Amino acid sequence: MFQDIKLRITEPEVGVIVSYAALDGSPEGVAKEASMYLSSDKLNFYGWVEDGGVVGICGFEVHADKVEIHLISVAEDRQKQGVGGAMVTALQRIYALPLEAETVEEAVGFYIKRGFVTTAFQDPEWGVKYTCVLEPKAGAGEGSRYEISQVDTLISEKIQSILVETWGSHYLAVNGKLWDSRTMPGFAAVWEGTVLGYLLYEYHSGVCEIMVLESVVQNIGIASALIEQLKQTSKSKGVNRIIVQTSNDNTHAFRFYQRRGFTIREVRLGALDAARQLKPSIPLTGEEGIPLRDEIEFEIEV
Ligand SMILES: CC(C)(COP(=O)(O)OP(=O)(O)OC[C@H]1O[C@@H](n2cnc3c(N)ncnc32)[C@H](O)[C@@H]1OP(=O)(O)O)[C@@H](O)C(=O)NCCC(=O)NCCS
Repeated sequence: MFQDIKLRITEPEVGVIVSYAALDGSPEGVAKEASMYLSSDKLNFYGWVEDGGVVGICGFEVHADKVEIHLISVAEDRQKQGVGGAMVTALQRIYALPLEAETVEEAVGFYIKRGFVTTAFQDPEWGVKYTCVLEPKAGAGEGSRYEISQVDTLISEKIQSILVETWGSHYLAVNGKLWDSRTMPGFAAVWEGTVLGYLLYEYHSGVCEIMVLESVVQNIGIASALIEQLKQTSKSKGVNRIIVQTSNDNTHAFRFYQRRGFTIREVRLGALDAARQLKPSIPLTGEEGIPLRDEIEFEIEV
């Protein structure tokens, strides 16, 4: 499966695969690449993951008119088995935009084999380089990328394998209680049988609470579409308020919810310290090394 593996970028096996694609493949060059990806929201780092192991990596940036591939490589023992092609196809299908890469003589064959049109140019530092462009497949577009489906047994199993990897357990600690995510209703963004994102919720105390929301493929509107679906469903059931909790480190989620009309309802200082008593696997530090302590509740009227 092609998924976001930015948080695994410093794993030694991943570093080895990065070294095949980085212009400077030395340990220092690979470490520099890793810190560049980790410190930039614009740079995506995805991988082809099989049984939890990373067998291919792809670093890319999504622009309004194209996806720019900066790094793409496959583990030595998995080369020439279609992994690189599968990553290119996944990018094409997910984003439905032209793919563009700049490369050197030794690597241009990879792109030519996959149908990219290449144009040579003279780079003052590297000599001859190539711009490689692959236009989207006919018929690719917004509607063909993924569909929002209600969670059924099959989708639930797929969600659980992602959820456990991200959140450490089937159980979610929310509102001072442990909730079993396997029995929650929800929606998923599904593309050719693959779950690209999911939202699970519960109705309680007259509100609809988002218990978990995660996009495997980010910044293509999946979480926004899942929330829109939840708004419609809640409204049709006569539930007019949606709430969601985030941890104090999740600045990306603060931005995301507020840009979608949610407002802060409550800040619960120390709530995560209490939640850690229920679920000891909750780490002490979260994103960007921020200590995980408090819970912020957002709400929206629908
Ligand atoms: C927070 C999170 C769920 C957002 O998911 P997402 O699918 O990337 O969200 P969207 O794609 O709908 O929106 C994100 C950005 O992509 C951009 N975007 C949306 N649709 C787009 C499209 N079709 N093409 C290009 N960009 C697009 C939006 O502008 C948005 O940026 P904005 O917040 O500045 O407006 C995701 O980052 C995530 O999974 N985080 C980890 C888990 C988590 O923290 N969950 C929330 C805690 S409760």
